[in-house]
Amino acid sequence: MGFPKTRMRRLRGSASMRRLVRETTVSVDDLVYPLFVREGEGIKEPIKSMDGCFHFSPDTIVAEAAEVASLGIPAVLLFGLPGEKDEIGSQAWAENGVVQRAIRGIKKETPDLLVVTDVCLCEFTDHGHCGVIKDGKVDNDPTCELLAKMALSHTQAGADIVAPSDMMDGRVKYIREALEENGFENIPIMSYAAKYASAFYGPFRDAAESAPAFGDRRTYQMDACNADEAMAEIALDIEEGADIVMVKPALAYMDIIYRARQRFDCPIAAYNVSGEYMMVKSSAAAGLSDEEATMMEVLTSLKRAGADILITYFAKDAAIQLCNYK
Ligand code: PBG
Repeated sequence: MGFPKTRMRRLRGSASMRRLVRETTVSVDDLVYPLFVREGEGIKEPIKSMDGCFHFSPDTIVAEAAEVASLGIPAVLLFGLPGEKDEIGSQAWAENGVVQRAIRGIKKETPDLLVVTDVCLCEFTDHGHCGVIKDGKVDNDPTCELLAKMALSHTQAGADIVAPSDMMDGRVKYIREALEENGFENIPIMSYAAKYASAFYGPFRDAAESAPAFGDRRTYQMDACNADEAMAEIALDIEEGADIVMVKPALAYMDIIYRARQRFDCPIAAYNVSGEYMMVKSSAAAGLSDEEATMMEVLTSLKRAGADILITYFAKDAAIQLCNYK
């Protein structure tokens, strides 16, 4: 035999053959759909910077969440835009805050849908930073106390999982203690453990009206150049009581997802962020690529890298597509 016995193409010959030997599959069970809730009534407004995404009010978000659940998606991730912002972001833990009302509404109508809440002050502070400011700087420990109040308030309203995204040191510990002390020891924390200071958040800042009024987030979010440091961040969060750890953004950080998968045994979430989403959307809108195929390739790649949970603005589209993905 002059030719190698092995021919890799044998197992690629048909769609069924490819399905048979597929190593990675995306399931609707993996998906989390982010939703934005703002103060008001009867609102369903397209978000200009994020094609296909909307701002809802606490009343209209209930039907949207029900639709998400009807597609088989197990969870939504809530972001809030309060009517009023102040220096410390006090609407973040208000009993009748916009997120708290949305949680109650969704849980009442769609109790089986998991409600995950973003725990971060940037959408609630008038300066747009993720913590309280002292002498022009974000002050770590007092911020942790407020984040714990916020997480507790979400949980009291009925949230199933709290997801701190601020990147303060020690916040998982503060939140875990607050939950334990108040009888919520069974509420998981999904920590944005390795969250990078990233230009890929551009469209989201617009959607969440949370751009910092001065400076940037580089004193708390991670430097894109570092990978070992991400392992240290994740290890700390697990030690402090995180149940699920997240890598964010996802696409430009697949090495981090992969390394985390090798090293840690807890579920790993990948956040396919707004800038990554809009790259796919814009390319397709310009007629340069096929949106569905690109979306599925991105999501599959994140799973192949080692992610268990995919947080994506494509969740609804993906849930629909998943039935016919070849
Ligand atoms: C809040 C937060 C951000 C995102 C999620 N939570 C923005 C930021 O850190 O500036 C980004 C999500 C996205 O881009 O899709 N801290």
